[in-house]
Amino acid sequence: MATNDRLLRALAREPVDRPPVWMMRQAGRYLPEYRAVRAKHDFLEMCKTPDLAIEVSMQPIRRFGMDASIVFSDILVPVEAMGVPVEFNPSPVLAEPVRTAEDVDRLRIPDPVESTGFVLDAISGLRRALDNSIPVIGFAGAPWTLASYAIEGGGSKTYAMTKRMMYSEPALFHRLSEKLADTIALYLSAQIEAGAEAVQIFDSWAGQLSLDDYVAFALPYTRRVVEQLPTAGVRSIHYVGNGSHLVEQAASAGTDCLGIDWRTDIYGARRRTGNRVSIQGNLDPCVLLGQRDRVIAETLRMLDASAGEPGYIANLGHGILPATPVENAEAFISTIRASIGQPA
Ligand code: CP3
Repeated sequence: MATNDRLLRALAREPVDRPPVWMMRQAGRYLPEYRAVRAKHDFLEMCKTPDLAIEVSMQPIRRFGMDASIVFSDILVPVEAMGVPVEFNPSPVLAEPVRTAEDVDRLRIPDPVESTGFVLDAISGLRRALDNSIPVIGFAGAPWTLASYAIEGGGSKTYAMTKRMMYSEPALFHRLSEKLADTIALYLSAQIEAGAEAVQIFDSWAGQLSLDDYVAFALPYTRRVVEQLPTAGVRSIHYVGNGSHLVEQAASAGTDCLGIDWRTDIYGARRRTGNRVSIQGNLDPCVLLGQRDRVIAETLRMLDASAGEPGYIANLGHGILPATPVENAEAFISTIRASIGQPA
């Protein structure tokens, strides 16, 4: 186990001297050293070159000293491995979307070692680079969020094509979701085998669904992923974007932790989950675009809302934005590092 075990202890709802902290998308364009690497390499090339992925994963750790390192990659990497071409501009573009029964039948459930070995090499190399100081977080997209990219062919405002398939051809949507779930289960298991001590499942767009549709079309497949993961030696986080109406159900997926955004309040999430899971989040990343004093005040407010309960991981409520001043990211992290947790 990593020497700094705050993250793993908080995920196990054990006492910690202070809350662990990391930031979603912590390796990214707000850092000049990331932009310097990115200027010389294509984004997907960086994902597929373990030395580059390790370097940019280490950059925020060197600068800020977070309590965990998330491996640099993208949720669409395994979707490409299933046979759907993916490009980044920088937003994802899937030029051959999955819309018919033939499209779904054609999808492979890829062997993670053969098709995405570069991610596994990045994880094992990152562990070596960290010299066991902090844990490595592996990750994948949740089936619903990945299905939306595969069907829409990119991001969406309304998710109309995804929902059209759900409502007009539910059996087909279920078949696609099963394939995604089994792909992700193998992919995350391989990441754990490669050395990830925690994994996060990103259901960034789950909040687009009503509660009933979430229970019918999304949750069963996230559960199907979690059920196939090894239980020993790994902790898990389930991030749900815009999911204040989904808290109880999302917390029942089987992970150790529910990740929430700023539209879900921490205290309410605690109450509604009965302390059965840890809570991660939830500062609005836009706060980091404001004044430094405000960043500190809002970070302290977030810590206050989680005080007195074990099982809390400080984070943003969504990925850090490229326009974030580095000093504000620093203010967020150092405010948490200076805080006090729950003594044993
Ligand atoms: O957290 C980390 O530092 C690890 C790296 C990471 C990336 N993407 C790098 C990335 C992680 C964990 C992701 C996950 C991801 N990718 C999600 C889930 C998290 C979330 O934000 O909800 C989603 C929805 C995607 C899909 C995706 N990839 C989008 C929508 C975009 C474009 C938006 C943007 O930020 O420009 C990407 C591209 C992407 N993924 C970049 C990075 C650093 C920017 C690419 C570049 O450098 O040009």
